[in-house]
Amino acid sequence: SPMHESIQQAAEWIAASKHLVVLTGAGVSKESGVPTFRDALDGLWARYDPQQLATAEAFRRDPKLVWDWYEYRRGLVRAADPNPGHAALAALEALRPLVIVTQNVDDLHQRAGSKDILALHGAIMRSKCFATCRGEPTVIDVAALPAFDPADGPPRCPYCGAWVRPDVVWYGETLPAGALQRAAELASAADVMLVVGTSGVVQPAASLPYLARQAGARLIEVNPRPSEITRAAHLWLEGPSGEILPQVVARVQERLR
Ligand code: OAD
Repeated sequence: SPMHESIQQAAEWIAASKHLVVLTGAGVSKESGVPTFRDALDGLWARYDPQQLATAEAFRRDPKLVWDWYEYRRGLVRAADPNPGHAALAALEALRPLVIVTQNVDDLHQRAGSKDILALHGAIMRSKCFATCRGEPTVIDVAALPAFDPADGPPRCPYCGAWVRPDVVWYGETLPAGALQRAAELASAADVMLVVGTSGVVQPAASLPYLARQAGARLIEVNPRPSEITRAAHLWLEGPSGEILPQVVARVQERLR
């Protein structure tokens, strides 16, 4: 079948790669039960638009609302387990030199056992001072703070009293220092880039596949739906990453035996 042939072709390129970069987005965690950003939000949060909650202005206006939303998302991540897509990428790291560049703020790649991960958008489980009182980022261990009443909103920074916020990149904010530069260097040096579960609409991450392709990399996309990356991809493996990636990695393994 055409899909079988595409998977074989992808495995051939990956098995021969020397600088493999895997760019992941929310889609890779979808089968773990973590909603993507373009999914309608569930239940309580159905009437909110993530793009209006994930900003510094929203947090300034209503810190409790934004903190509660992240508390809800942290709950989803805590309850989630890595899926076969995450596991396949962790297994692939033992077969080929690779770096995962992820837009995800969950910790599912880490928990699946991947080691070389560049997190472009921060980490939802980590918190920091909103006022950056001791430099960027001023990481705060919320679990170590004296109990606070969640009805009062987020906790306060123990150093300066400002609000504590999640250590994630919000709309309008720049990426962590050095992260984007390293990602761009990796993309430019890649011979194969595997793009998994991203809509390709949020910059600057969305430009990385184009950078890689321009520098001569083979571009392989895994996504059940077309994205902003699809037209640039040499191969589009149309389907959920939890089903496609294990097949690809099994073929890579066969080729390297
Ligand atoms: P999006 O929510 O924009 O896109 C999710 C993508 O995953 C879509 O293209 C879906 O078709 C695809 N998808 C859905 N189910 C899938 C599955 N089972 N397997 C593979 N793919 C699947 O998520 P991102 O592209 O990651 O930024 O969004 C980029 C950034 O926008 C996020 O990092 C976040 C958001 O605003 C920040 O938090 C700064």
